[in-house]
Amino acid sequence: MQRLIPTLRQDQVAEGLISVINTLQICAKEISFRLHQGELAGVLGSTLDENIQGETQKKLDVLSNQLLKDILLENKFVRAVASEEEEGIVDGFSDGKYLIAFDPLDGSSNIDINSMVGTIFSILPAPTDGTEDEAMFLQPGSNQVAAGYVLYGPSTLLVFTTGKGVRVFTLDQKVGEFLLTEHDLEIPKDTCEFAINMSNYRHWQPEMRHYIDDLLAGETGPRCKNFNMRWIAAMVADVHRVLCRGGLFTYPWDCREANKPYKLRLMYEGNPMAMLVEQAGGQAHSGEQRILDIQPQHIHQRIGVILGSSNEVDACLSYLQGSQ
Ligand code: AHG
Ligand code: MN
Ligand code: MN
Ligand code: MN
Repeated sequence: MQRLIPTLRQDQVAEGLISVINTLQICAKEISFRLHQGELAGVLGSTLDENIQGETQKKLDVLSNQLLKDILLENKFVRAVASEEEEGIVDGFSDGKYLIAFDPLDGSSNIDINSMVGTIFSILPAPTDGTEDEAMFLQPGSNQVAAGYVLYGPSTLLVFTTGKGVRVFTLDQKVGEFLLTEHDLEIPKDTCEFAINMSNYRHWQPEMRHYIDDLLAGETGPRCKNFNMRWIAAMVADVHRVLCRGGLFTYPWDCREANKPYKLRLMYEGNPMAMLVEQAGGQAHSGEQRILDIQPQHIHQRIGVILGSSNEVDACLSYLQGSQ
């Protein structure tokens, strides 16, 4: 089975980008090891701190963030990093070619129940026009040169794209290397499976409730087929399922908190997953526009997410636009 670096060389990925992806896989192995040690390494549970999003940080949120930050910032190709767990960006090398936005630990409410979590990353080109600070990151997702995630599950997987399809690598624990196990993931156009946090039903727009009602109505309802539902509560794991066997994943607008109508973040959740999903032949939409076309306003911006099997994303959008 092919190793990571030869695969990247075969895909003619620039040497600097190969170096950054290599650094990310080193971090992934370290985080994977700590997760597998679990309680034995004393890494479970929460800290007393809150992050910029107002969420209580888990010990592993902090540890994964520190690890990624420290190791990435030693790489001379890294201009700056942005993280879910950091209020502002952190500068690296002034002549670094790449910006890396990451969600160090996604699905962190799953940590203490020994369930799946992940790390998400988005790599953007560093501007060469003198732009500095946070403004460097405020580029639409269509500018990403690579995006991906690590899924810490029964196996540890590294799934990424450099714009040439979606590659899956599995961590071989015996030799400590990621080996290529899927060359080109493709999302089926149609699906009978959806993923949404149903407990928010009463907070959605009527159009979203109507769409979900019709899915639940099954084969005697307007959609004329039975749908299954899954919710792992870690975007990485839910999107991984969609990439493997199709489906529709959504975290839509809701009115729980007036000033926080969306949950997922554009720069390190929406954009990287949108690039992967499009590379696998699916669609990723905010409910208003293609996610990859959104011009970000700030690094922690939140958006609606509707992604997955192309025909089902179209079906969902037709409800939201009021034509159903
Ligand atoms: P994070 O753990 O990085 O803050 O992200 C959590 C996100 C995402 O992974 C998941 O899809 C969603 O929150 C789960 O939301 P619910 O708690 O509503 O299930
Ligand atoms: Mn969080
Ligand atoms: Mn997350
Ligand atoms: Mn997180």
